[in-house]
Amino acid sequence: MSTRVGVIRGNGIGPEITEATLRVLEATGIGFEWVPVPIGDEGMEQYGHPLPQEAVKLLKELKLAIKAPLLVDKFKGRMYCEHEDGSVGVYPSLNNAIRRELKLFVDPRPIRGVRGISGRYETMDVHIMREITEDVYSGIEHMIGDVAAECTKLTTREAAVRVAEYGFDYARKNGRKKVTCVHKANAVSMADGLFLSCFREVAAKNPDIPSDDYMVDATAYYLAKCPEKFDVIVASNQYGDILSDLAAGLVGSLGLAPGANVGPDGRIVVEASHGAAPDIAGKGIANPIALILSGALLLRHMGRQDQAARVERAVWRVLEERIALTPDLGGTAFTMDVADAIVRCMDEA
Ligand code: NAI
Repeated sequence: MSTRVGVIRGNGIGPEITEATLRVLEATGIGFEWVPVPIGDEGMEQYGHPLPQEAVKLLKELKLAIKAPLLVDKFKGRMYCEHEDGSVGVYPSLNNAIRRELKLFVDPRPIRGVRGISGRYETMDVHIMREITEDVYSGIEHMIGDVAAECTKLTTREAAVRVAEYGFDYARKNGRKKVTCVHKANAVSMADGLFLSCFREVAAKNPDIPSDDYMVDATAYYLAKCPEKFDVIVASNQYGDILSDLAAGLVGSLGLAPGANVGPDGRIVVEASHGAAPDIAGKGIANPIALILSGALLLRHMGRQDQAARVERAVWRVLEERIALTPDLGGTAFTMDVADAIVRCMDEA
């Protein structure tokens, strides 16, 4: 029986990197049925709404999905999602709405350096657990006339404990050595103070795994200066968002940073850390590796560690032996050349 996986093709480079990723996942030999999920432009075409109820329902039913990046208009700032009971969810963006409608609460982003590509960050190996339901991305903000704006930084005990617990579980399952909480509790003493104290409560229940904490500004400094200080990082929504782009830049490209939005009941929507890259869209030169490695995270979630490792080994070979590198990594290969090279390496292994 084939495994049904939802596919959101996204905008910008989305369709290109999706095609490359599906090609690699098909080469695992696992029978997949790719189920298009009408979100964004497809939602508008089919249902007249970028996030139709039908799409949310389909994602909940499928539980497994691959999502390419979606363009988000600056300044527009509101996404409404109608529920069957007549209530309406209000979110700051389409991406945020998908996560919260599905109750996806953490986005683990493993970012690793690559020999011969990442320079002094070749040995970097930092896994950022980004909380994805609240913080300044809750969408609780308003204008005060046209002279000021106010935005609420929401931190609840439930979400802070949940992401910390996930971080320690992740560390244990993946043989990691330490978990670090990132915050700014000296300046945001209540919201970040609560995030940190919840982390410490969870840390006390997980004495087998060492833990510590750093201010977010110091974390940015140490990531650049001595990234070996970090292993697993637990961060609130905005800090995790920013630090994962920083880490991706240090190893050489956003095109190397995978991710997965994880929720209850086995739900997962894997997606790269990067956006729709409109500056290079349609040219066939986007690096598909972040989404392909996100596909490997999907395989792990499905319990197919063997195939996940096969994909990851092939990706690493293509990178380290410089078999096919897109321009962001200094090469001249096209998106599908990278996918083809990965498939060839999977076959040879
Ligand atoms: P971006 O991540 O799309 O691009 C930043 C830079 O990285 C650009 O120079 C781009 O060409 C490059 N880049 C990104 N991914 C790449 C890849 N796979 N291969 C080669 N180069 C790559 O960030 P930006 O420009 O701020 O956002 C563009 C759009 O994407 C916006 O509408 C934004 O809201 C949206 N976005 C969507 C996300 C999502 O769907 N989860 C996440 C982040 C941004």
